[in-house]
Amino acid sequence: MRGSYGDRDRDRGRDRGSPRFGSSRGGPPSGKKFGNPGERLRKKRWDLDELPKFEKNFYTEHPEVQRMSQFDLEEYRRKKEITVRGTGCPKPIISFHQAHFPQYVMDVLMEQNFKEPTAIQAQGFPLALSGRDMVGIAQTGSGKTLSYLLPGIVHINHQPYLERGDGPICLVLAPTRELAQQVQQVAYDYGKSSRIKSTCVYGGAPKGPQIRDLERGVEICIATPGRLIDFLEAGKTNLRRCTYLVLDEADRMLDMGFEPQIRKIVDQIRPDRQTLMWSATWPKEVRQLAEDFLKDYVQINVGALELSANHNILQIVDVCMENEKDNKLIQLMEEIMAEKENKTIIFVETKKRYSQAAVKSLTHIFRSGKAPILIATDVASRGLDVEDVKFVINYDYPNSSEDYIHRIGRTARSTNKGTAYTFFTPGNLRQARDLIRVLQEARQAINPKLLQLVDSGRGGGGGGERHFLLSWFNPSCDTWVQVVFTALTSRWSFPFPWQL
Ligand SMILES: Nc1ncnc2c1ncn2[C@@H]1O[C@H](COP(=O)(O)OP(=O)(O)OP(=O)(O)O)[C@@H](O)[C@H]1O
Ligand SMILES: [Mg+2]
Repeated sequence: MRGSYGDRDRDRGRDRGSPRFGSSRGGPPSGKKFGNPGERLRKKRWDLDELPKFEKNFYTEHPEVQRMSQFDLEEYRRKKEITVRGTGCPKPIISFHQAHFPQYVMDVLMEQNFKEPTAIQAQGFPLALSGRDMVGIAQTGSGKTLSYLLPGIVHINHQPYLERGDGPICLVLAPTRELAQQVQQVAYDYGKSSRIKSTCVYGGAPKGPQIRDLERGVEICIATPGRLIDFLEAGKTNLRRCTYLVLDEADRMLDMGFEPQIRKIVDQIRPDRQTLMWSATWPKEVRQLAEDFLKDYVQINVGALELSANHNILQIVDVCMENEKDNKLIQLMEEIMAEKENKTIIFVETKKRYSQAAVKSLTHIFRSGKAPILIATDVASRGLDVEDVKFVINYDYPNSSEDYIHRIGRTARSTNKGTAYTFFTPGNLRQARDLIRVLQEARQAINPKLLQLVDSGRGGGGGGERHFLLSWFNPSCDTWVQVVFTALTSRWSFPFPWQL
């Protein structure tokens, strides 16, 4: 039996002297801007018989996992709300040691004091380690980054060392620079003691240092698509050695904004690679498209199969008019300031959107040090793991229900809890139905004004869905009890009683 995945040879020199990319490579001169990014990248024709063979299945079931009965397996998945689609998915592991990670990875995990794998890790680790293509969907803040990075490190450990001129073995594509940098920090933390090198490639920053890193040779490259295409086109790196491809925030990477670029990049990677896609949301529109990039894949979902939020977030929706928002925001911030922990992210559609009065007031609060506030657009909505954010405010409602899930997911990371306030105006009516579903699924109080808005406007796609809100006072616990009945789905939900 293969035991732990062993250590990479620490003595082996990695810094291999001079840059690898001389003028003889024939790429276009560096720094030149091209009209259509990726225009010069040709789709590669792969002949699998000619490509060097590589291994991608490194998984050996731990004896403790082998002993897990079918009953226990099903019970565990039920308890953790893990759903599996596709054949041949290994059993989950319930403890880190069952994954047989190398000791240097275990050391970092222990330093972090993580008690056990999260549900997505429990099922995602063995699946990713067994070399399968996969889609992993789990709540915001549930540890998806390690779900792909740790198996990625094992994958790298089993590949031949990089030679001069080789590009990365593991490529992680992410939608924003901030997320790419964050993922690289995690890759660095877990890879540093085995000298697995990683770098981050993103637009809006000088190319020189990024090129130098690539030239030195990195096993892991975390990239935003545009800049990577730029480098591929200019011959600054290549994906000939890439056998482990990750799309983090995969639904975002496959939506209209990124999909053409993803296609260009994936065309440069051998087709027998392992492909892994991750997100907290998996809208219908991208599912079919994703299959273009996956082979015989397994999908795992943690939590509800429909759009759903992290249940550790208290979601409060304030139905109001556009011109009421500033005052409401100021009032809300005053309340938040009274809290001991008050780190807050305020999402706006564009930074111009909120008024001078609000800016002045927020600046004052921020300067006074009473509340650390970040005002952000959707650039910060996905993936960012900022410690102890306690509140998220949606000053403007986002453009899609997926964005709502990701934005509020900046709070309640890992085992923490958090609160999300959302200003919802009649102008957002189109989104009301989705929002109600998300609130119901998470058993949140539904603001009666939101239901009224839907019923009066037949909003949210106009299906004529009707909600009935029943409430009564329960003297035994001195609170109101709310029940929402949704006629279309014949579904009852029992939200928290406190918010009426
Ligand atoms: N097993 C674990 N136990 C406790 N905390 C963990 C565990 N694994 C990861 N974490 C922590 O949970 C936090 C969230 O992890 P991560 O950023 O990977 O979430 P995510 O699922 O990618 O969220 P998002 O959908 O928002 O991108 C991180 O701070 C990470 O260190
Ligand atoms: Mg993430």
